Amino acid sequence: MTLKLPKVIGHRGACGYAPENTLESIRAAAELGVEWVELDVKLTKDDVPIIFHDEELERLTNGSGLVKDFTLKELKELDAGYSFGDSFFGVTIPTLEEAVDVLLEHDLGLNLEIKPCPGRERETAEVALDVLSQIWDAHDKILISSFKATSLEAALEIAEDWSRGLLLGAEYEDDWSALADALHVSTLNINGNTVTREQVEDLMEYNVPILAYTINDPMRAQELQRWGVDTFFSDVPDLIAENILTVH
Ligand code: G3P
Ligand code: MG
Repeated sequence: MTLKLPKVIGHRGACGYAPENTLESIRAAAELGVEWVELDVKLTKDDVPIIFHDEELERLTNGSGLVKDFTLKELKELDAGYSFGDSFFGVTIPTLEEAVDVLLEHDLGLNLEIKPCPGRERETAEVALDVLSQIWDAHDKILISSFKATSLEAALEIAEDWSRGLLLGAEYEDDWSALADALHVSTLNINGNTVTREQVEDLMEYNVPILAYTINDPMRAQELQRWGVDTFFSDVPDLIAENILTVH
């Protein structure tokens, strides 16, 4: 399956402009003309896939404690928008299903990052992809990624036809290619702020698109593009799109 990857992917929606990983953030990305967004998925206590980045509630909501200890009903009572200012007061944590409705409405592509709570690596992929497979058709506009090999292994078993992206962290591991082979990945997703030119050259030998997170500085985007990076995740995707070569 050929992926129709854009040059810029809105990070957590377009989280420079609206509370991250919310429906408002997805809508903000659509309004900027972004073609794809990246969203993080994890499970509630009652096994509903929700779009949320952290294990803890404190940074992003008016709740406290661990996400994994709360049901969807309890999480829906929290305010996930207040930290961004009054205009987003009352915004809630979306389910994966609610997020997909907005993506489809705006014809956006999706990079779904499986971001499991510790110990739930396999089931998070299983449940999220089960839900997604019932509502998502466009195989060329979906990329499943994770830092967790176990989550990507499950994705390979459950949804082999959907492209997978291997997320590599700041602590660059030289032996990434064996894992990339085993997981049949279609992209390598790297930390664009710490990666070196030598590492990009090493990654390029694998001959799949290289995606760099999270790039909000146009100068860094230009440098990475010269080195061979194909696509950027950005909180301010419009700013990056304006400052890079966008010819496919
Ligand atoms: O998927 C790219 C990027 O989102 C990975 O890091 O912590 O922002 O989910 P994080
Ligand atoms: Mg992410």
